[in-house]
Amino acid sequence: MRIDVLTLFPEMFESPLNASILKRAQDHDIVQVSCTNIRDFSKDNYRKVDDKPYGGGPGMVIMPGPVFDCFDHVQALTPEWGRVLMMTPQGRPFDQAMATELSQEKRVIFLAGRYEGFDERIRVGLDAEAVSIGDYVLSGGELAAMVIIDSIVRLLPGALGDDTSSLEESFSEGLLEYPHYTRPEMFRDMKVPDILLSGDHAKIAQWRKDQAMERTRMWRPDLLES
Ligand code: 6GU
Repeated sequence: MRIDVLTLFPEMFESPLNASILKRAQDHDIVQVSCTNIRDFSKDNYRKVDDKPYGGGPGMVIMPGPVFDCFDHVQALTPEWGRVLMMTPQGRPFDQAMATELSQEKRVIFLAGRYEGFDERIRVGLDAEAVSIGDYVLSGGELAAMVIIDSIVRLLPGALGDDTSSLEESFSEGLLEYPHYTRPEMFRDMKVPDILLSGDHAKIAQWRKDQAMERTRMWRPDLLES
């Protein structure tokens, strides 16, 4: 898979992309991630990429010119046509089902903006899907893009290594995950549930199922409605 990010702050992506799973996946050629600075495509002497909104109002809007030029450059880096996602709090709510769907793409291109947003002609002209990671406002789309990239890459075959699987996690079954324990057996008066020490695998599996259901009922009853 190839992932491109069009952003005004490519440096924001450096440490998340250079640690843990995301780093390993790139080192193993499971994914290639490339960030391109929209500002490099400004035609302005001062490298300006934003301007005041028509009709008035607060803040600045990212102009279409530099984004289209940046996009054309990035799209042409490989022949594969990319699915284009625009990060915006107005977008379709991102979820695990969409992560799974995106993990099956050959190429995804993220548009991560700042300020009050993108000129509307960017979304329309690039046929971008507007995506949000939740009902709160971030200062820009960069962190949202990173969240989505992380959730996609860890689903790619081989990304988690042999001893971990993404198949049994929270949300993949529509439920929250059961609680986990490791040594020591007793910690600050809190004991590991006896059943996990019993060696009875059928009973343990049933207990975990029950726990998953109970947690979902307590913490995320909305997940049980669908
Ligand atoms: Cl994708 N962008 C911004 N700026 N804020 C958000 C978001 C995206 N998703 C939730 N809040």
